[in-house]
Amino acid sequence: MRVHVADHPLITHKLTVLRDAKTPSPQFRSLVEELMTLLAYEGTRGVRVEPIDIVTPVAPTTGVRIADPKPLIVPILRAGLGMLEGMVKLLPTAEVGFLGMARNEETLEPTTYAERLPEDLSDRQCFVLDPMLATGGSLTAAIQYLFERGATDVTAICILAAPEGLAAVEQALHGREVTIVLGAVDERLNELGYIVPGLGDAGDRLYGTV
Ligand code: URA
Repeated sequence: MRVHVADHPLITHKLTVLRDAKTPSPQFRSLVEELMTLLAYEGTRGVRVEPIDIVTPVAPTTGVRIADPKPLIVPILRAGLGMLEGMVKLLPTAEVGFLGMARNEETLEPTTYAERLPEDLSDRQCFVLDPMLATGGSLTAAIQYLFERGATDVTAICILAAPEGLAAVEQALHGREVTIVLGAVDERLNELGYIVPGLGDAGDRLYGTV
C-alpha cells in the first residue's frame, strides 16, 4: 500500500477554511469540490493511458488518451458524494458507481446499505472517494469489496485521515495494489471516532444537517 499526503500550500489553505466550525455549508461544499480537484490531480498520477495518433494544425504527433476499460469512480455515500464533482471534472470519461456505507455509532463497524456498481470490475482501475479516513473500517470494507468484484488497483482519495485509521487500512490491505491520497494526516481519533482536530462530521457539514 502506498500513502501520499498531498503537500501543497493551496491544499493546506483550503483545508484550514474547511476545518473552521464557522464555515457554512455552501462554502464547505465548494471547498470540498475545489480540494477534490487538487487531490484528484495527485490521485490520478497512475491513471492508465494508451498512445493515440493525432494531427495538430502543424504536424502529426502521438499523444495519450485514458485507456479502456475506463476508470471507475466510487464515492462512498453520503459524504463521498460531495467529492464527486471535483473528481469528474478531471476525469469526465470515467464511469461512476456508488457504495453506501454507514458506521454503527456504537460499535463503529461499517455496514453496506446501498450498492450500484458495474457487474464486472475485472481489470478496472477504481478511485474511491471518502473524505474522512477515521477508523478505516468503511474504507477497508469498500476496497475489499471492489477487489472481490475483480478490480485490480484501487486508489482511495480522502481529505483527512487519522493515524489509527491509516494503520488499520494498511494492516487489512497489506500486499494489495492500493494507493491512498490524502490532504493531511491529523493527530488522532477521539473516543467517539472523530478525527482530531478534524472538521467534524463531513456529511452533516456538507448537507447542512448540523
Ligand atoms: N467521519 C466524519 O465525518 N468525521 C470524522 O471526524 C470521522 C468520521
